[in-house]
Amino acid sequence: MQPERSTLKTPPGRRDFLKKAAAAAWATAPWIVPSTVFGANAPSNRIQVACIGTGNQGISILRKFLKNADVQIVAVCDVNRASYGYKSEDQFLGREPARKEVDSHYGKQFGVGAYRGCQAYDDFREIIVRKDVDAVTIVVPDHWHATITIRAAEAGKDIYCEKPLSLTIGQGQAMVKAVREHHRILQTGSMERSNPLTRYVCKVVRDGRIGKVQRVITNVGYNNKAGPGPGWTPMPVPNGFDYKQWLGPAPQVPYHKDRGLYRFRFNYDYSGGQVTNFGAHSNDLAQWGLGTDNTGPVEIDYVSAKWLPKGSLFNTALETEFRCRYASGVELICKTNKRPVGVRFEGTEGMVEATAYAWLARSEPASLITSQFPNGTLRFDASAAHVRNFLDCVRTRRDPVAPVEVGHRSASLCHLGNLAIRLGRNIKWDPDRQQIIGDDEASRMIDPIKVPAP
Ligand SMILES: NC(=O)c1ccc[n+]([C@@H]2O[C@H](COP(=O)([O-])OP(=O)(O)OC[C@H]3O[C@@H](n4cnc5c(N)ncnc54)[C@H](O)[C@@H]3O)[C@@H](O)[C@H]2O)c1
Repeated sequence: MQPERSTLKTPPGRRDFLKKAAAAAWATAPWIVPSTVFGANAPSNRIQVACIGTGNQGISILRKFLKNADVQIVAVCDVNRASYGYKSEDQFLGREPARKEVDSHYGKQFGVGAYRGCQAYDDFREIIVRKDVDAVTIVVPDHWHATITIRAAEAGKDIYCEKPLSLTIGQGQAMVKAVREHHRILQTGSMERSNPLTRYVCKVVRDGRIGKVQRVITNVGYNNKAGPGPGWTPMPVPNGFDYKQWLGPAPQVPYHKDRGLYRFRFNYDYSGGQVTNFGAHSNDLAQWGLGTDNTGPVEIDYVSAKWLPKGSLFNTALETEFRCRYASGVELICKTNKRPVGVRFEGTEGMVEATAYAWLARSEPASLITSQFPNGTLRFDASAAHVRNFLDCVRTRRDPVAPVEVGHRSASLCHLGNLAIRLGRNIKWDPDRQQIIGDDEASRMIDPIKVPAP
């Protein structure tokens, strides 16, 4: 499907323009469109964004992009036209509601009433070939992250990709390669890195203020949805939902609503349970505080898990705990916990902890944290700051706060935990070569294609 009609002009060579403009104080650059006519955020100056995946998190991220005056959302894409059934059952989402929201936003902003400038697609490949798209958001289930990221990087798009960056370690490696080879900017959706509170907590640790770190505890929540048990029966695919394209690279299996929207988290074909869902936040903070962004642990030396009955639709572990060790001797324990997702660093001289979504931090001695909000704010929209950081980096071509390697290594830590959980045994890992040591079965499971069911 080609764009039906665009009300925005796309000048030739806009990518070159964006680069040049960044180098020469973009906001005041006068040579494309006189700012007296359109202002600094004239359509030709805007970063043109296409949003791929407009479900629970996709619509939230889309709104953060809309809030930036130097962005124009020109397209949305979702394999679901419009339906209920997302995280909150009363959420009505999909590509059509998203398109309408974007058009209505710009209609009001431009004062033109009924505006039609955003195209809706069901196939991301049609977006990726559009020359006028500078950047894409990838907010789809985890089993699609690698394919879409790699295709987008090859097509020269910058990328805001949700966490966990990958479905497998092998996919993450391929994503790093593609992003770097094609000189793209990629921000992983680990928005805790744009939160001044968590940044502060990690700085306290990295500055040695709790002494030598000995132990890190990371929390992941319990499953917040229940799927059907053994003997579940398939359901008819709803109208307007392209289930075949939703499955994409995953095995072709009968449809059930608890397999798809939001609930994909609890099936290893599409995700990694709460270990990758929440663990991608809490373990990312652990990596940040420890200063191990470009490496990882050397072994998983303890693992336990509780499972749902065999034959249940959800097949990820119900409750888990794994412990890993870094070469420095630091141990990290990641476990299912009722406490909010977060991280606790324990050192020889104190302890400091933070929740991933912020708004709470604690330390012993208490004086290590002087304020819950070092910047004096009462609330902080870390997701908005994270999107802004991405947009700034699209202009400056600098790495964002959660570049592809960071997303890959934090996801790798979660994936290693999941491998140990699924195999029920300890694992040794070479973080430099990114290889499993002495376990052929586990090694095969980091392959990007062959991810066996448990
Ligand atoms: N950073 C965070 O705090 C945060 C929060 C929630 C979700 N997420 C991440 O966002 C991603 C999506 O999660 P969600 O809760 O929004 O799921 P969701 O099921 O609510 O939404 C995913 C959307 O992607 C669409 N989709 C699936 N395959 C597609 C494809 N090939 N092309 C286009 N659209 C496709 C689905 O139809 C659906 O509308 C996951 O990776 C999740 O981990 C991150």
